[in-house]
Amino acid sequence: MNVPRRSLLAGALGVAGLAGCQASGTFVPARAITHTGGTQAGIDRPAPQPHADLGVFDVTGRPGQVLGGLGDLVLALTSGSHPRLAGLPPGDLTVTVGAGPRLVSAVDPELPGAVDLPVFEREAITHPCRGGDLMVQVRGTDQLAVSLASAALSTVDGVQLRWRQRGFHAERNLLGFLDGTENPRGPEELASEVWLAGPGRVAGGTIAVIRRLRLDLAGFAALPVTRQEEIIGRRRADGEPLSGGGTVSLAAKSADGEYLIPPTAHVRRAHRLATGSGMMLRQGYSYDNGWDDRGLLFISYQRDLRTFTATQHRMDEGDDLMAFTTCTASGTFLVLPGFGPGAPLGGTLF
Ligand code: HEM
Repeated sequence: MNVPRRSLLAGALGVAGLAGCQASGTFVPARAITHTGGTQAGIDRPAPQPHADLGVFDVTGRPGQVLGGLGDLVLALTSGSHPRLAGLPPGDLTVTVGAGPRLVSAVDPELPGAVDLPVFEREAITHPCRGGDLMVQVRGTDQLAVSLASAALSTVDGVQLRWRQRGFHAERNLLGFLDGTENPRGPEELASEVWLAGPGRVAGGTIAVIRRLRLDLAGFAALPVTRQEEIIGRRRADGEPLSGGGTVSLAAKSADGEYLIPPTAHVRRAHRLATGSGMMLRQGYSYDNGWDDRGLLFISYQRDLRTFTATQHRMDEGDDLMAFTTCTASGTFLVLPGFGPGAPLGGTLF
């Protein structure tokens, strides 16, 4: 049997709570992530891990009970004490849970997270892949731990699976471009753009948007690289904006008065100065379902759903990248405030 070197090393070192990843031939231990506190793990702690398994469910049981049980299971899995992890060290395994608009609006229709996404352009979404009551996002460096945790989380009483998608995170997306460059960073930007400060029942939560975007990889690859770069608005090799200078400048023009970042480029259309919205934290995962179904599992977190909807509307009105995308699953979820002993998951709401 081919036992991965990292497992042997983790075993040999006898390091509880550590999993390894092979990066450029070097063993890099992945540290255990704290799951208790004011906010949930898996958003700003840690940075996106290489593997994700995202499930969207309906809740058929009592939401408070289902979420409370789920929270206990999350703590047991991520601490490595649950038998379903088969003795594996959990390493940087994280589980992030969100509640859909049906559940939130039943508590209070005024709460953030109570409103669903509208329908956008270029969607081909069949019934179970739109909406849903519960998002469970499992991430980690060790794909085996992610898979085992995900399997255990799918068998909780009172939930029914709608759809799920596995993804992998790398510096570049399947178009070959660096992705995730322009994002809020550090505690201050995250506090002002991502985490909800109130009302009290949702403080420490955030609004997640999930969109599975199938990409026309053949169509995009058939274009000259210069045209691809015009569509994105950045250079493929190093991510430099076409306006130069390290950060995107929407105003920069060539000597003959043309915008250096074209009017229909993705980074112009999606830029907050063009949308008049706040910033979103994007943590996309590429996915590969074989045949012609490959693309981006787009995941964003923001304080206000409007940050996403204003951006997507602006893109629908004239972003050249959109011609290469088809959305096949969509949902928004209130990522619940942090939890821990004496403060059950979802306890402030349900
Ligand atoms: C398959 C579809 C998509 C691909 C391949 C893609 C790719 C990219 C790339 C390569 C960048 C430039 C690097 C960066 O700043 O991270 C970027 C920027 C960005 N994208 Fe996307 N994106 C996609 C869909 C979306 C969607 C659905 C949204 C939101 C509605 C979005 C919002 C943004 C934003 C806000 C930026 C930063 C713009 C700026 O301020 O410079 N993207 N995207």
